[in-house]
Amino acid sequence: MDELGRVPDTLLLHSPERSLAGVDLAADRGRLAATCAALADAASSGLCGSWGISCWDSRPLARLLAADGLTGLPRPEVLMVRSGLAVGADGLAAAEQAAALLGVPPPGRWGMSPFAGDAAHPAWQRITPGAFLRPGQQAAAMPTVFRLAFELPPVARVAVGSTSGAHLRALAAAVDLEVDGGQVARYRQLLAARPASQA
Ligand SMILES: NC(=O)c1ccc[n+]([C@@H]2O[C@H](COP(=O)([O-])OP(=O)(O)OC[C@H]3O[C@@H](n4cnc5c(N)ncnc54)[C@H](OP(=O)(O)O)[C@@H]3O)[C@@H](O)[C@H]2O)c1
Repeated sequence: MDELGRVPDTLLLHSPERSLAGVDLAADRGRLAATCAALADAASSGLCGSWGISCWDSRPLARLLAADGLTGLPRPEVLMVRSGLAVGADGLAAAEQAAALLGVPPPGRWGMSPFAGDAAHPAWQRITPGAFLRPGQQAAAMPTVFRLAFELPPVARVAVGSTSGAHLRALAAAVDLEVDGGQVARYRQLLAARPASQA
């Protein structure tokens, strides 16, 4: 706060899945509830504007919420999840399930890391993300990949890392690209039909 000169708009609990072992649900739930309560206190006492949870892998959180209910768990205003073409069917489904169980409204559902942290990975050269756009639009591949991160799963914001002004300008322009919802739905069906999927 001293460095920012203001309170943060939103404070996110970082990757709680690392502390959710999945062995003792009551212990996991207790840890999560205590941490969420501390963040809710921070927000209500003015240390931050709002609070939320940020998950790289949403599956442990979704499993815990589905198995153990939400009694006494403070509700976050934001759930930030990994989003985009690098996320598998399980990861997409778990992110949507966790957001629904936590009652996070659409504006509070945020995405992150649209290039899985590695925009130079050769896999990005092997795909044609333009196939997901409505006809008649021209855009470079990586900005299109970024645009798709707003759909997989549906999120209102996407946190992306960049040290380049030119990259950021291209990404900002890509927000206006129109995505073909039918293609996204078909992609999700194909992804779900794969025998093994990752977070
Ligand atoms: N558990 C968690 O909560 C968690 C975990 C990971 C990430 N995050 C969040 O997600 C944010 C983004 O994640 P990230 O930075 O790891 O991964 P990312 O956004 O998927 O990828 C960042 C990389 O993409 C490159 N890039 C950006 N725009 C580009 C463009 N138009 N064309 C080509 N390359 C481009 C950047 O290089 P240039 O610098 O050259 O643009 C950078 O190397 C983080 O800042 C953090 O807030 C949260």
